Amino acid sequence: MDQLRIRGGQRLRGRVRAAGAKNAALKMLAAGLLTRDELVLSNVPQLADISTMSRLLSAMGAKVRRHGDTVTVRSDGLTSTEASYDLVKTMRASIVVLGPLLARAGSARVSLPGGCAIGARPVDQHLKGLQALGAEIRIEHGYIVADLGQKRRLRGARIVTDLVTVTGTENLMMAATLAEGETVIENAAREPEVVDLAGCLNQMGARIRGAGTDRITVEGVESLHGAAHRVMPDRIETGSFLIAAAITGGEVVVEAAAPGTLDAVLDKLREAGADIQTGEDWIGLRMNGRPRAVDLRTAPYPAFPTDMQAQFMALGCVSEGVGTIVETIFENRFMHVLELQRLGADIRIDGNSAVVHGVEKLSGARVMATDLRASASLVIAGLVAEGETWVDRIYHLDRGYERMEQRLAQLGALIERFGAIRPSTA
Ligand code: UD1
Repeated sequence: MDQLRIRGGQRLRGRVRAAGAKNAALKMLAAGLLTRDELVLSNVPQLADISTMSRLLSAMGAKVRRHGDTVTVRSDGLTSTEASYDLVKTMRASIVVLGPLLARAGSARVSLPGGCAIGARPVDQHLKGLQALGAEIRIEHGYIVADLGQKRRLRGARIVTDLVTVTGTENLMMAATLAEGETVIENAAREPEVVDLAGCLNQMGARIRGAGTDRITVEGVESLHGAAHRVMPDRIETGSFLIAAAITGGEVVVEAAAPGTLDAVLDKLREAGADIQTGEDWIGLRMNGRPRAVDLRTAPYPAFPTDMQAQFMALGCVSEGVGTIVETIFENRFMHVLELQRLGADIRIDGNSAVVHGVEKLSGARVMATDLRASASLVIAGLVAEGETWVDRIYHLDRGYERMEQRLAQLGALIERFGAIRPSTA
């Protein structure tokens, strides 16, 4: 298994390009199931999760080809509508094939995702919404088995989700594109990735309005056609580079970024003392001196993203003062705390709050990545820890960050990968 070795203490300086957004690209690949025509996606990041989704679609008979950062999906001859446990267990986002399969093929058999490191993560809202659209759903042998019964198509409905769910909103939005009549999704997720997916679907001939608000309206159409779409920049990756720069007292410009999707994160970085400039598609950060502690609370977009909580906590570990981090989205998303403590961090957890007392210095140690964003926080902490930090189980990191260590090294970090050959990419 690969490991990263980081020798802390280097200031990051220079320019780095943001990759395309994993959490947008994954759903768009699934959207390729909605049409017989070719969907051409550009700016698709090279990540283990993208490979997993490609394998999932290929197993259903779709043709998925990558050429550089462009991936084409053609689903003219679907041979299966099953998403197996083996693939779904490695990537929970696989659940987003459920809506497209039902809408296009009229049936689907998708493994229930099961538990995950950061919380229970049920999919009840996905199922409730699809049932409202007319799907008949039962759970059999660990699988969600869904079909249309005697109906020819899903039919539009008004759906009010009990809570804000990103993939739930996306699954329902995709299913509704081919339903008969109008669907209204209330309490919809407003994440930029939902907006990007809606844009892609509309290019395919869907009629979606209101994406980016909490009320999405979808006018169902008979069929969708092929399209070409460029995936938005990854805001979480961008934010991670900015925090990495901030913790080292560095000066970095992230190019090909989408500053408008990072307001809450940039606000907190400014509060921590960073000097931030933005242009249309770039963000520059300069940090002078030790960061100041900040309080933050994760919540659905446009509030502070849960996917940046662990990385920001790493910054808090070496900040001046005491900061409180409240995690409201996932109940078990403090797995990185024990590992950060191995680096000398002073963090106390009380329920869904973590109180972080900044320390002058972290000291390198062997630590273990427990999930995707936790691994990024350990890498970020390692950049300032004295001596060597070894981060184990970095396959988690590879799920969501493209060549993270090479790009950090280009910015001046002393970081190297050791061990087995990297997991293959799409
Ligand atoms: C997506 C993102 C993930 C991010 C999360 C929150 C992808 C592939 N992943 O995950 O990176 O951390 O949004 O911004 O886009 N819930 C239910 N029932 C449901 C659905 C969700 O109870 O049917 C709960 C979840 O357990 C969680 C909360 O709702 O506590 C939010 O989850 P959700 O927005 O669905 O997260 P994902 O879409 O899985």
